[in-house]
Amino acid sequence: MNGVQQEKIQRHYDDVADRYDHHYDRSHGRCYHTHLSRHIMEVLPKTGLLLDIGCGTGLFVERYMMECGTAVGIDISRGMIRQARRRCKESELVIGTGEAIPFSDASFDAIASLLAFSYMRDPQGMLNEAFRVLKPGGTIAICTLGKKLLTCGVPAIYQIGERMRVNHVVVRDFGEHYYDEADMSTMFSAAGFTGIQTKWCSFAHIDLIDPLFNLARKMEPFVERRLPQLAYNICVNGTKPE
Ligand SMILES: C[S@@+](CC[C@H](N)C(=O)[O-])C[C@H]1O[C@@H](n2cnc3c(N)ncnc32)[C@H](O)[C@@H]1O
Repeated sequence: MNGVQQEKIQRHYDDVADRYDHHYDRSHGRCYHTHLSRHIMEVLPKTGLLLDIGCGTGLFVERYMMECGTAVGIDISRGMIRQARRRCKESELVIGTGEAIPFSDASFDAIASLLAFSYMRDPQGMLNEAFRVLKPGGTIAICTLGKKLLTCGVPAIYQIGERMRVNHVVVRDFGEHYYDEADMSTMFSAAGFTGIQTKWCSFAHIDLIDPLFNLARKMEPFVERRLPQLAYNICVNGTKPE
């Protein structure tokens, strides 16, 4: 267990729920989110039932339903789930934590989680739960801000932003944690997953001004392949053995 402030996270996302999509579903935000989603989508099965942990307003649930199978979402924020229910009328969307998933063993063909893992108070507990609810042969794929030289200053920036009352949907001091490849592989293995793969993605940051964002977008594939030290989201996938 770590010092993540879950009640604060829940209250914050309740507060920002109705403007979250202005940040992640328009302009730079939509490019960024689509880019991360593609990385996750490419390792997931193209049919079946998916659970999205920390589904937020349902951006990935909607995408998976359009391109692959059916999807269910879970999120601790009532406000975010309310928005997700507006977006994905056909999906089951429940309020709850990824550390105690309210579904039976072996219920899902796939699990995804985007931009939520760093908020888990008990990340190993979440992975153990994910393993439990996945069917044998099922796939999990997570994308989260990773531990890097570039991201080690992020908590301090968020603390300063909070003190200065910066009105931003993710800028708050929640005591969140970032992990590197070794941390993630160790936790995935301890949960029982095999075939674990990690890669770094994204370089064009949502908050960059236009010319820099466009330049970074062009360089993104090169950075991801050749200069992963500049990419700051870690994507990890694994399989539950048959
Ligand atoms: C940055 S948002 C990402 C939302 C969505 N995955 C997306 O890609 O747009 C982080 C989300 O994680 C949710 N969250 C944080 N801790 C959680 C937990 N322990 N269990 C479930 N959801 C959680 C928050 O409420 C919030 O909706």
